[in-house]
Amino acid sequence: MLNHLLTITCMLCLVRLSHEVCVDVPSETEAVLGQSMRLTCIDCMKREEVKVRTSVDWYYRPNETSSRIPIYKNQDGKRESLDSPLKGRLLWNGSHDMQDLSLRIQNVSFTDSGFYQCRVYREFQFDYFTPTASTIKNISLTVIEKASEDPTAIYSEIMMYVLLVFLTFWLLVEMVYCYRKISKSDEQAQDTATNYLAIPSEQKDSTAAPVTE
Ligand SMILES: *[C@@H]1O[C@H](CO)[C@@H](O)[C@H](O)[C@H]1NC(C)=O
Ligand SMILES: *[C@@H]1O[C@H](CO)[C@@H](O)[C@H](O)[C@H]1NC(C)=O
Ligand SMILES: *[C@@H]1O[C@H](CO)[C@@H](O)[C@H](O)[C@H]1NC(C)=O
Ligand SMILES: *[C@@H]1O[C@H](CO)[C@@H](O)[C@H](O)[C@H]1NC(C)=O
Repeated sequence: MLNHLLTITCMLCLVRLSHEVCVDVPSETEAVLGQSMRLTCIDCMKREEVKVRTSVDWYYRPNETSSRIPIYKNQDGKRESLDSPLKGRLLWNGSHDMQDLSLRIQNVSFTDSGFYQCRVYREFQFDYFTPTASTIKNISLTVIEKASEDPTAIYSEIMMYVLLVFLTFWLLVEMVYCYRKISKSDEQAQDTATNYLAIPSEQKDSTAAPVTE
């Protein structure tokens, strides 16, 4: 059981460390006033889709009824922060391979809350044709004054400690059980040996004494 757990954790670590792996995770939807916030937009590609031109456009809408404002674009690595209330506070936070197309808002203000949209256009360059694909990710952002404790993080931390205590306890029980089993079989072996040699019972008891409680 412990071995399996270690193997699984090891595999998870390897996945985390590897640069090749693209994992599509949804963006955070809460930002803290005055801090920075990552608007995550990930669009994974298949291995064969190597030759590709990618451009991404980021938009912002303060509320559902207002029209969208272009805030940032990255066309084939050419990054540009556009004229908007967010200008000067936006940083590219994506990757060079253009699978991670995230933006970072610095010094978040209450007026940054609203709806963000990440639009990814890809033009694949095969020999005779250039198919295109587009992806849209929507992020609804809420700005709060202070960081709230994440209840799921606390819960998983507690679970981790419970599991650790349980595993330690289980290991201890297993060790005691094995020790008992070994000493018992030793005792039995000694018993049969002494019976066979027909040694008087007092002597037989004294040899068994150190292992019994
Ligand atoms: C939506 O946002 C626009 C632009 O910021 C503003 O003029 C309008 O009053 C807002 N509408 C609502 C319902 O909040
Ligand atoms: C994203 O921003 C954080 C904080 O500024 C930085 O530590 C990290 O390296 C950035 N990642 C990329 C891929 O730019
Ligand atoms: C953050 O923004 C507030 C107003 O929105 C401004 O007063 C403050 O100087 C800014 N802080 C930084 C570090 O840019
Ligand atoms: C994103 O939001 C726009 C505008 O609200 C909507 O038309 C579109 O269907 C949404 N797309 C996704 C993938 O949720």
